[in-house]
Amino acid sequence: MLFTFFKLTSPLAGVVAILAVALFTRILRGYKHRSPPGPSGWPIVGNLFDLPPSTNEPWKVYQAWSVKYGSDVIHMKVLATRIIVINLVKAASDLLTQKSAIYADRPRMPMLQEAIGLGWHFGFMPYGDGWRQHRRLFAQHTGTFTIAKQLKWTNILLENLLSSPHNFIEHIQHFATGSSLEATFGIQVNPSGTPDPFIEAAKQVVQSMVEAGIFGSYLVDYLPFLKHVERLKGQVKEWSIASNVAAHVPWDAMTKAVQLGDFSPSAASELFESDNLDQTIARQTLASMFASGSAATASTITIFLLAMRCKKLRKSRSTVVGDRLPELSDEVNLPYITALIREIGRWNPVVPLAFPHMLSTDDEYDGHHLKAGTIVVPNSWAILHDPEVYSEPESFNPSRFLTRHGLLNPLVNDPEAVWGYGRRACPGRRIAASELFLTISGILKVFKITPAVNNESEVIQPKCEFGSGLLRYPKPFKCSIEPRSKEVVELIQLF
Ligand code: HEM
Repeated sequence: MLFTFFKLTSPLAGVVAILAVALFTRILRGYKHRSPPGPSGWPIVGNLFDLPPSTNEPWKVYQAWSVKYGSDVIHMKVLATRIIVINLVKAASDLLTQKSAIYADRPRMPMLQEAIGLGWHFGFMPYGDGWRQHRRLFAQHTGTFTIAKQLKWTNILLENLLSSPHNFIEHIQHFATGSSLEATFGIQVNPSGTPDPFIEAAKQVVQSMVEAGIFGSYLVDYLPFLKHVERLKGQVKEWSIASNVAAHVPWDAMTKAVQLGDFSPSAASELFESDNLDQTIARQTLASMFASGSAATASTITIFLLAMRCKKLRKSRSTVVGDRLPELSDEVNLPYITALIREIGRWNPVVPLAFPHMLSTDDEYDGHHLKAGTIVVPNSWAILHDPEVYSEPESFNPSRFLTRHGLLNPLVNDPEAVWGYGRRACPGRRIAASELFLTISGILKVFKITPAVNNESEVIQPKCEFGSGLLRYPKPFKCSIEPRSKEVVELIQLF
């Protein structure tokens, strides 16, 4: 009977079998090519209208979508561009760290690189030989000079805070740009509070990165031909001039000084005098250092003051080093300061969505297919605010990194996401970490930080408000910065 059935129906069975195989293959291929979940979007424009604006804390929206779609990786498509956002540390580690070689590229960002002209900054260069040469030069030449100047600049900052504490935001900016410019190019900035062309250029460049550094902040990122229109806008012209100043003026000033024999040794002068120098690579590498590092460090120190304004710190245990300011060698004996710096970075990461990475070949993750060319946005904010890893993530609690005995807890990891991922992780981390240790422990040693009071002697209740963009920085706020005693003020040295 069975035999008869097959015999009789064999042509039909053949057709059914072919259709079944075709359907099965299609399902399989569909499964294989299935993207991670995310908002469904519209025909042609895709998720263009779903994307949260960069001015409105997009990291919080992506974190909420991750919960809504039940996936640590969410997917969006805008016109022809695919974007994934990584919201948990496991996915960040599996993809950006373990497979760093295929996740280290950067997307073309027409607004930042072409309209504003920041293509010279190696932080935005595609992964490849050009980027590698810049990064190698950075690793070889920038650390020594910076670390040598840090103690001097910490004292300058403390002195400025002592003489005009209300201008603390200006002093921090002056410190961060001034120390970086001196170490990199041997150039001195004007005293804090006086206009300075280099600080002005650095501020403008940073502002352009804040506003255009998140991929897709401007439509031109999806439609590159619009860069010609963007270039006509007044603000873009101003940014472009500042970018050109940062890329050329300090290098030109240094080369002139070296030729005249009247220069202060710096990373640039060392490089300038070396053999086989590619001047363009050297100039761009140092300009990248000058333009990017200062902003993240300045923002972190300002966030520290904001946090201190709201919290009382256990001062006596935190900065005991005798009758002097803390030095780098004290770090190992001051675990509370290390915990404090980790918590500042975790609580309010200054780069909440790390610079965009790009996938260079097709990949698979958790049963999902990821296409080459996909832009990969690491949501460091969500990673550092994961309640499974950090209980009560919104609260500021340095003690989460300590044991009951006040030592660094080896079971609680250093929040690495603060510094980015894989081969693109921040190359200035060591410089920034020592700068943060010296300034934060120095400020705590010398000053009491409390909420400001108004004319009626009432405490001005602190509000923690932040600007939004590639870099996160506190909105202007008031706080009181007073010396702890007369004796402690004498520890500040004028170099
Ligand atoms: C608190 C201070 C700092 C923080 C939190 C920070 C954080 C970051 C982050 C998150 C990235 C993106 C990493 C990625 O794409 O995955 C980055 C890149 C970068 N940072 Fe920092 N940074 C700081 C200070 C500095 C300093 C002081 C310098 C220079 C001396 C510097 C130079 C750079 C450069 C050149 C890149 C681009 C690297 C590349 O694309 O290869 N940063 N930083």
